[in-house]
Amino acid sequence: MISITSRTVSSSTIERRLALRTISATAVAVVAVLAFAATSARAEGAAPDAAGLWAKNCASCHGKDGKGSKAGEKMGVKDLTSAEVKGKLDRTKTLDSMNKGLKVGDKQVMKPYTEKLTAAEIETLATYTLSLK
Ligand code: HEC
Repeated sequence: MISITSRTVSSSTIERRLALRTISATAVAVVAVLAFAATSARAEGAAPDAAGLWAKNCASCHGKDGKGSKAGEKMGVKDLTSAEVKGKLDRTKTLDSMNKGLKVGDKQVMKPYTEKLTAAEIETLATYTLSLK
């Protein structure tokens, strides 16, 4: 009697466990697909996150707003939002400073970003830099 009951219970428990396992495997697959979609959207760079790229790669010297951080000021960064700088700066120079790096005198103040950033990210950052106000 007891053994029949327990057998009945255990077989339905197994079914339930299998069902649960299937559901959670499906959930994991769905999450994986979503994560992959998010990553590949970013990698394709339809619209790289300009502000995020700036914060990560440029703000340490140029400040979050482009006016220059404490550390940047010591190195001689200029206020990228000022009329004076904007008047002299164009897209070619901005791209060059990221693609080739930048020297002031014989001091390398900016390293080239070509290994750290994709060409699309560099283009995005150029637009962002020139749009700083
Ligand atoms: C290690 C500090 C540092 C980092 C990080 C840095 N810069 Fe610079 N950047 C400088 C200095 C110093 C100058 C020189 C200021 C000057 O003479 O105009 C400069 C100049 C510039 C200029 C002016 C170039 C010109 O031709 O006049 C641009 C544009 C620029 N940086 C963009 C960026 C962007 C975009 C990033 C991020 C990808 C970045 N910088 C990261 C230090 C840095």
